[in-house]
Amino acid sequence: MAIIFNEKDKIFNIQTKNSSLVFGIYKDKLPVMLHYGKRLKDTYDIKKTLDFTMVKGTAHNAVLKDFDNEFSTEIVSTLYPTYGNTDLRNPAISIVQNNGTMCSSFYYKSHKIIKGKNKIEGLPQTYVQDGDNVESLELCLYDDIDNIELILNYSAFYDYDIITQSVKVINKSDKEIKIDRIMSASVDLKHKNLDFIHLQGAWCHECHIQRVPVMTGGMTIDSKRGCSSPNHNPFFALADKCANEDMGEVYGFNLIYSGNFVAGVEVDSIKTTRAYIGINPFNFGWTLEAGESFTTPEAMMNYSCEGLGKMSDNFHKIIRKRICRGKYRDIRRPLLLNNWEATYFDFDEEKLLKIAKKAKETGIELFVLDDGWFGKRNTDNCSLGDWYVNKEKLPSGIDGLAKKVNDLGLKFGLWFEPETICVDSDLYRAHPDWCIHIEGRPQNECRNELLLDLSRDEVCDYVIDIMSKNLSEANISYVKWDMNRSMSDIGSCGFAPERQCEIAHRYILGLYRIMDTLTKKFPDVLFEGCASGGARFDAGILYYFPQIWTSDCSDAVERMFIQHGASLVYPTSAMSAHVSASPNHQVKRSVSMKTRGNVAMCGTFGYELDLNKLTEEEMEEVNNQIKIYEDVVNITQQGTMYRLLSPYEQSYVAWEYVSEDEQKVVVMLGIVLRQGGIRWDTTKLILKGLDKDADYVLENTGEVYSGDFLMNFGLYKQLYQDFDTELLIFKKVK
Ligand code: GLA
Repeated sequence: MAIIFNEKDKIFNIQTKNSSLVFGIYKDKLPVMLHYGKRLKDTYDIKKTLDFTMVKGTAHNAVLKDFDNEFSTEIVSTLYPTYGNTDLRNPAISIVQNNGTMCSSFYYKSHKIIKGKNKIEGLPQTYVQDGDNVESLELCLYDDIDNIELILNYSAFYDYDIITQSVKVINKSDKEIKIDRIMSASVDLKHKNLDFIHLQGAWCHECHIQRVPVMTGGMTIDSKRGCSSPNHNPFFALADKCANEDMGEVYGFNLIYSGNFVAGVEVDSIKTTRAYIGINPFNFGWTLEAGESFTTPEAMMNYSCEGLGKMSDNFHKIIRKRICRGKYRDIRRPLLLNNWEATYFDFDEEKLLKIAKKAKETGIELFVLDDGWFGKRNTDNCSLGDWYVNKEKLPSGIDGLAKKVNDLGLKFGLWFEPETICVDSDLYRAHPDWCIHIEGRPQNECRNELLLDLSRDEVCDYVIDIMSKNLSEANISYVKWDMNRSMSDIGSCGFAPERQCEIAHRYILGLYRIMDTLTKKFPDVLFEGCASGGARFDAGILYYFPQIWTSDCSDAVERMFIQHGASLVYPTSAMSAHVSASPNHQVKRSVSMKTRGNVAMCGTFGYELDLNKLTEEEMEEVNNQIKIYEDVVNITQQGTMYRLLSPYEQSYVAWEYVSEDEQKVVVMLGIVLRQGGIRWDTTKLILKGLDKDADYVLENTGEVYSGDFLMNFGLYKQLYQDFDTELLIFKKVK
């Protein structure tokens, strides 16, 4: 059982294999947060400590009249804090009532525990498959002054060690109300001295790990950019000061959402840490007419008492197996070559086929044509929205080109940026009001583009139709779905003034409807997400598309940091990574072909260069790489990942992957900058997750080591040159 209700004491214990979230219903009324952390077997002793928990406030705290002034919710943690009563910290929810005030009190009404999990309409989410040990609790709370129902939905993925939460508000009154803030999850922790870990960055520099101490007052990360953003990923972890990869308590939070989010902690004067994650309340508001409801995106809560490594493993497994879907979820992704960095906009059919032919000879399986094939697009200043082929460049059309690529023995893939529109496009000329904009204000462009107004159904229907047309008219096996701007000047002419602060969220709901429809209609197409690289690298996208272009920076050294950071949450199978030219086009760094290959192999692997331009020596390396890739792909994409050495902490990086059947092990070891002095430049590679009683042959050399030795003593390793890497492959022999 994953959810236990202690009827006598009115205490719920939401359990996973190693964690418990425990709350009680005080005096049959107030849901009180009691514990989130290590798994509690049962809750019968909690009652004895309740007096201690239910302390009255001090001089400056208001006390709750509803409970005879017994206590203040500023000191007693409620399960889902509201604004306006006696808790004056960041609330989980604030609602502007019909009389203009902002106070709510939600008390227990009923609850239901079910096997499995109900579907959340219109949003990405975790799902359950036959045989899963998952239970869900629907806790119904009610504010009977304003007649508003609040349903807290918790699901315990027992074996995945993850608890999910989403929240639904139903306006049961006959008056209009407005949601001002609504978090997907909010928990109060009694821990002191926690660190806040998050993934920050910028374009070409996404997912860099930052770890800072949590201070009284707290800290927040967010996105106001209309997408989850390269600046902050919708994830954070709270870790014990001493927590590292292998030990210590860590609380991970992730929002399954691709739009504006907020995530943070508030630490009060008695050192209670309130952690929260949800839609960003900035420029957000949602009007609920009588009878209407609103459901938040789902959040994942991931408690690990075995450090960051276990937290990541939990996230990897649930994202890979219970968020990602479709044909490609569990299978090896095709090895691709994308023409973008090989040609940019400067191509014709002959040039493309020459690149594709060489790719086929090398063992590549999928040829992807990137930007520049449609409208009159020869640079990035026009034609987004005009999704018909440029016959001057491609006289046989996309259909003809796809056939020719297929005839070479390759699958064919195509780039689209379906959510955007250029002012210089037939689509804009026909529908100038179809973009996100504010009447009477300038339409500020980014990369010469505007966003289509996906808050409007008719615009979404157009995107579905035009994409369906393109995908039906040619043999397209793969789609790179790009989106290259932040959302600014937010406004929609499809909605009344009082609904304008719904637009950013409505856009994401529209996008999800489009993605859902197209992925269902074209189940054999492999869709890859992209947003100027990793500007929308989140679990929301992964519900529809199983992989995402991790960053526009294809430099292997920058990628060591990006992929290491992204791996805190996201599995290897989600991180698209390509070998590109050297010197690298984004950072001008020269890196060996071997290193470019080794780093890219720790993602969904591909090439993004013209193989015809490589030297014989480089081609030999590519041929070798593709052989190795065949050997390791299932291990890196479906195995268990361990971070052994962090480039954020010293000069080496090391990632280990253990195959699902535990028979094979791959280690990618790399050095960023070599330091002076031999001593400083030697590292010890201590493996994890092996069988200590088994032996492993290192296939690169034929040497045999015991699992015990590899895990408890380790291998001394030295790489001699900046940016050098080595891929070690071990096989269990007995
Ligand atoms: C974005 C993508 C790139 C490429 C270009 C094409 O920047 O992230 O990979 O597709 O657009 O314009």
